Amino acid sequence: MRKLAAGNWKMNGTQSDLAQITQIGAAFDAASVDILICPPAQLLIPAVTASPHVAIGAQDCHASASGAHTGDMSAPQIHDTGATYVIVGHSERRTDHGETDAMVNAKATAAVDAGLIAIICIGETLQDRDNGATLNVLAQQLTGSVPALATAQSTVIAYEPVWAIGTGLIPTLDQIAQAHAFIREHLTAQLGATAADMRLLYGGSVKGSNAADIFAVPHVDGALVGGASLSAQDFAPIITALQNA
Ligand code: 13P
Repeated sequence: MRKLAAGNWKMNGTQSDLAQITQIGAAFDAASVDILICPPAQLLIPAVTASPHVAIGAQDCHASASGAHTGDMSAPQIHDTGATYVIVGHSERRTDHGETDAMVNAKATAAVDAGLIAIICIGETLQDRDNGATLNVLAQQLTGSVPALATAQSTVIAYEPVWAIGTGLIPTLDQIAQAHAFIREHLTAQLGATAADMRLLYGGSVKGSNAADIFAVPHVDGALVGGASLSAQDFAPIITALQNA
């Protein structure tokens, strides 16, 4: 499997930031891992042509292909921009927009139907972890959010503990190992053999300084990076660490 270094720019970035994508592509023009940037929606079309070495994805899609849904974008529309991935079920969407596992499942299905690779996000809150409920929460989210049609080619899972996002806090390497091994096991029971090659990303406060340790954990096949993906200077050492893992 080719590992994946993915950046989620969230609601950051204007046209002047496209140069960061071009720089990353130039620095990794023969990368041994897949590189992805998910910019905000208004940058999708120019981002696609910013570098031939960086894949582009959206941060959300609607579950329907078209219709009366003001302000939303559908998976076929994202595909039409030349983007190849879409993130669904990020914890910020689950919180800000009340997205449920069933909604995330429908979005992931729409994404795959449109020919996009869906990055399905799951992760526990600090309260879940303190309650000893982490693995139960992950199981529930996987069962609810990952559609039966998901394959290793069409789907990526991102494990993002909510309390580690944008906080500078990260789980211990043992906690990451436990979560990722559990996710692999659960997906195997849920989807069968294809789960063995499905890429499992860790996300939450990944930086150049901690990336190598995180990528050495079994069943960590890449990262979904927020803040440290906004500049080529910060993202490059993470890509390098993944290539060396
Ligand atoms: P940070 O890397 O800024 O913690 O964000 C992680 C994230 O939410 C990526 O989707």
